Amino acid sequence: MYKIPLFDLNFGEDEVQAVVNTIRSNWISTGPKCEEFENLFASMLNVKYAITVTNCTCALHLACVVLGIKEGDEVICPSLTFAASVNCIRYINATPVFCDIKSYEHINMDADEIEKLITPKTKAIIVVHMAGFPADMDSIVAVAKKHNLHVIEDACHGPLSEYEGKKLGTIGDVGCFSFFSNKNISTG
Ligand SMILES: Cc1ncc(COP(=O)(O)O)c(C=O)c1O
Repeated sequence: MYKIPLFDLNFGEDEVQAVVNTIRSNWISTGPKCEEFENLFASMLNVKYAITVTNCTCALHLACVVLGIKEGDEVICPSLTFAASVNCIRYINATPVFCDIKSYEHINMDADEIEKLITPKTKAIIVVHMAGFPADMDSIVAVAKKHNLHVIEDACHGPLSEYEGKKLGTIGDVGCFSFFSNKNISTG
């Protein structure tokens, strides 16, 4: 029988107390704790705004919506990624265009390869910092600017990691993070 691997989450008394306090406060959905978390996370990332939503899948979907990507548009995304960073493109009936990774040593998309995939229908690039390994954002943002494209960063694997002194997820137009139980920072 397949067994789901368990992660050592190292929860201690502080976390138990935080859950108890939250339940006692009656705010078990969006409330003061979420706001506290948003403000703290925004300040840690050195950005003006951070908004909590259900999960990163939802954040990626909303990023596509707010950037005005529509049915028929093309969005370039990596072929090596988790399904959510591609599904979000399909949720709005746009078309994912897969870009291969650079090499076994550099497991993210290459800006030159991205540029070859751009057509008049391309509206955005979804960059995934795979396994916390930063994508080459300077070249990718340069290609995006040249072709007037949006950049969505999926920084699920690298919260608070940096590229050239900037936190991952703060370099493109929108950055999306996950706090699922198997991520670097987990929460409920
Ligand atoms: C790269 C990447 N993007 C998005 C997601 C989706 O995150 P969530 O489970 O918070 O929806 C994951 C989850 O594993 C992921 O690894």
